[in-house]
Amino acid sequence: MREEGLLTTAVTEEDHEIEVGLRPRQLDEFVGQEALKERLSILIEAAHGRGESVDHILFSGPPGLGKTSLAAIVATEMGASFRSTSGPALDRPGDLAAVITNLEPGDVLFIDEVHRLPRQVEEVLYPAMEDGQLDIVVGKGPAARSIKIDLPAFTLIGATTRVGRVAPPLRDRFGYVARLDYYGADDLAAIVKRSASLLDCVTDDAGADAIARRSRGTPRIANRLLRRVRDYAAVRSDGAITSDVADTALAVFEVDDAGLDKVDRSILEAVVNKFGGGPVGLSTLAIAVGEDPETVEDAYEPFLILEGMLQRTPRGRVATERAYAHLGVAPPDDGGQGSFL
Ligand SMILES: Nc1ncnc2c1ncn2[C@@H]1O[C@H](COP(=O)(O)OP(=O)(O)OP(=O)(O)O)[C@@H](O)[C@H]1O
Ligand SMILES: [Mg+2]
Repeated sequence: MREEGLLTTAVTEEDHEIEVGLRPRQLDEFVGQEALKERLSILIEAAHGRGESVDHILFSGPPGLGKTSLAAIVATEMGASFRSTSGPALDRPGDLAAVITNLEPGDVLFIDEVHRLPRQVEEVLYPAMEDGQLDIVVGKGPAARSIKIDLPAFTLIGATTRVGRVAPPLRDRFGYVARLDYYGADDLAAIVKRSASLLDCVTDDAGADAIARRSRGTPRIANRLLRRVRDYAAVRSDGAITSDVADTALAVFEVDDAGLDKVDRSILEAVVNKFGGGPVGLSTLAIAVGEDPETVEDAYEPFLILEGMLQRTPRGRVATERAYAHLGVAPPDDGGQGSFL
């Protein structure tokens, strides 16, 4: 059995269970993203003041940064019900029609992975978002007819990790498109402390910092690392999380100082040792490390690129000088840009 990387952004079952309890419920519990929160609170207050629903909102950004949490917060702050579905779950226009005709006035309809909505379903969504009308064809062949249904006012909140894949006509129908960015170390430390207190465990500032530093800018990962450190602290120490406890615990789980795990390191090692620093194509690299190309591309590369250890070039992936330094390998004379460019 292969272990799931501790640092992947994929949601594990344990994440799912625990995240429900750790999820911030109100805007002021949501740590960081200050500019975004300010804009959201203006949107919410203004809509409240007018007695209307909030305009449709699209949240984009990498996994685990709080898109779903924010969508639920908007509903809470509006005193509205939160109905949640996802692009892949809405297979046919009728699926969306069923969801949408069940909405009560003011409801928030959340569509996760909105970039994966099939085209015909998207087309049902356009008039619903714009004119509050459902326009749908029922029946087949000569008996087919188009019916229009007036919908109650509702707010559509979409979330996507791939904003470039949201069809432009859909994107344009959101009144506000917000991008979430990776969190800084201070915000992550605040998230670790908040979660620690919700999980009833004691952590000092240095302990929270040690976890935050390795969390790859991502609250979901910060919470996951916190849980592993909490386990370690409970069985190998006195339960309290200090920086020593966090350092040792994370070393046991093979998370290094820079927040790289085994798979990250094996990607860098493959580029450096097997492919002369690159360029190497994604699929070749993925085979070398025994992962799917999509997993390498979506789950691992963004952080390695963000950290300046890996570059994507038209000819393939290239290890940078920082990668060599991190692995403790001497770079080739041309500075690690690939010896056969
Ligand atoms: N700003 C924040 N403050 C506190 N906790 C946060 C924050 N952002 C995210 N979290 C925590 O991280 C977890 C993951 O967040 P969430 O599920 O909202 O991310 P997401 O962007 O929807 O991810 P995905 O793209 O995988 O759906 C939440 O359960 C919550 O505990
Ligand atoms: Mg989500």
